[in-house]
Amino acid sequence: MAFYEIVFSPTGGTKKAAGILAGELAKNLTSGSPVHSLSIIDLTDGRADFAGIRLAPNDTVLIAVPSYGGRVPLPAGERLAQIKGNGAKAVLVCVYGNRAYEDTLAELQDIAETAGFAPAAAVAALAEHSIAHRYGSGRPDSQDEQQLRFFAAQILAKLSVSARAPLSLPGNRPYKPFGVIKLVPVPAENCTQCGLCAVHCPVQAIDSSDVRKTDTEKCISCMRCAALCPQKARQADPQALSAVEEHLKKVCALRKEPELYI
Ligand SMILES: Cc1cc2nc3c(=O)[nH]c(=O)nc-3n(C[C@H](O)[C@H](O)[C@H](O)COP(=O)(O)O)c2cc1C
Repeated sequence: MAFYEIVFSPTGGTKKAAGILAGELAKNLTSGSPVHSLSIIDLTDGRADFAGIRLAPNDTVLIAVPSYGGRVPLPAGERLAQIKGNGAKAVLVCVYGNRAYEDTLAELQDIAETAGFAPAAAVAALAEHSIAHRYGSGRPDSQDEQQLRFFAAQILAKLSVSARAPLSLPGNRPYKPFGVIKLVPVPAENCTQCGLCAVHCPVQAIDSSDVRKTDTEKCISCMRCAALCPQKARQADPQALSAVEEHLKKVCALRKEPELYI
């Protein structure tokens, strides 16, 4: 019996928000019960072998993805689909940047169920917008943390009963068409060609022998390369970024709060 955190988190916001919940769940599931370990399965790692991962019916997992254009990011869904859930209880988490998460939880539920997981609860949580950082800035904050801890207690109560009510999540089927503005970060002159961006790109879109070359078809605009560059040399086009920020201004204006589905 084990507790797993399965997470896709290119710039760390999803990991941070989901980590609060996972920490709280793990603490309770591992104290005085037969659950003895917390393992992390990193869906961001495009080189990992997910098809070889098999869970057991008495395992519990927290599955967390960011919302991209109101959907599950394609590589996250494809990688999750390869894991054999074998009936493991799942807590689904989508993390978004204060615009909207639309069909993300519904799609995540479908992918998880097809992979053999048994979703028992779901949470929509907030983190800083990984493209337009001024939205959701500083989140998850202490208020989020308090809310997520409160959710964890309710999730634990649901996980402890054997006859669990079916989960009804918001979202449309068919899902909204996948469409996000393509922003492909490029290196500026201060790039030292250290290659870190190529190593950590979740979809191996950056040429490791010349990081100035990016496969724009493969790039998912996740901004991981920009976030981890030690020189801050890799950035998306500033004009395109301003346009995105302007476009999001109205829809991101009001603070959104975490939600629990149980
Ligand atoms: C390509 C892309 C699309 C995004 N689409 C949305 C969206 O539709 N709604 C939203 O509120 N936030 C959106 N975001 C913001 C992310 O969901 C949010 O910042 C999340 O925390 C990023 O996860 P990460 O930090 O683990 O990479 C988007 C971010 C990216 C990179």
